[in-house]
Amino acid sequence: MRIVMKKVCILLLTALLPVSSLAAGGSSVKLEHVEINLNDTHALQNGAKIFVNYCLGCHSAEYMRYNRLTKDLGIPEELVLKDMISSDAKIGDPMNAIMPAEKSADWFGVTPPDLSLTGRLHDAKWLYNYFISFYVDPNSVSGWNNTVFENVAMPHVLADMQGRRAAVFKEVDGKKEFDRFEVLTEGTMSDEEFKSQMKDLTAYLVYMGEPAKLKRVKYGIYVMLFLFLLAGLSWMLKKEYWRDIKSSH
Ligand code: HEC
Repeated sequence: MRIVMKKVCILLLTALLPVSSLAAGGSSVKLEHVEINLNDTHALQNGAKIFVNYCLGCHSAEYMRYNRLTKDLGIPEELVLKDMISSDAKIGDPMNAIMPAEKSADWFGVTPPDLSLTGRLHDAKWLYNYFISFYVDPNSVSGWNNTVFENVAMPHVLADMQGRRAAVFKEVDGKKEFDRFEVLTEGTMSDEEFKSQMKDLTAYLVYMGEPAKLKRVKYGIYVMLFLFLLAGLSWMLKKEYWRDIKSSH
């Protein structure tokens, strides 16, 4: 009986194994830590600016309406209208990609996915590392590749800022492993500046995935305060009751 149980266990484990190795991403690249702060309105505003200027050409964010930039992030409506909407969209419209989906599918072989919920699909760490890990690859269609997202169809749209880099690989046990980046041409920003911009962009994408989170945190604080007050009152009430009970003995 015990042997049968053992066999069943091994079978189950091996059946689960391929899934767990897929979940790990199969990538040996170390991801850099990133700390984002959804209460940093300035960072979110900056992230929104990068997003509309550099991403909305190809990607939509159809669950995000322009007027949320005003309501949630405090960007004045005139500024959103003047600087952030380049199509004929209105302030209450969702953020749709400027390039039609069929066209971009034609160009890139895949449709650039909608980014409304990408902050939930991927975590902040993955997104941040993806943005900072593009490198020049003459063998790819776009001329670019990415150590975090191998053979990605997206070109490095922020190459002006970061500069162009090559990736150097090494052989470990007969397998190709990423070693380091080498700068080919400098960008307009230092490494530190670029990373700080990518942190803001990441924060914005995470916020977009759950705009209600900003409000929830605020309500959460009120609810906690209320509960504290209630606890204090109940304790005082309990003392009152017990005083009567004790004195009646
Ligand atoms: C020139 C078109 C283009 C632009 C501009 C562009 N992307 Fe992309 N992006 C793509 C394509 C195409 C893919 C799909 C890649 C693939 O599946 O190989 C992609 C994939 C992604 C993914 C991975 C999504 C997933 O879950 O697979 C993220 C995240 C992303 N882009 C973010 C951005 C951000 C942020 C910007 C702006 C800084 C941006 N993109 C600008 C074309 C673009």
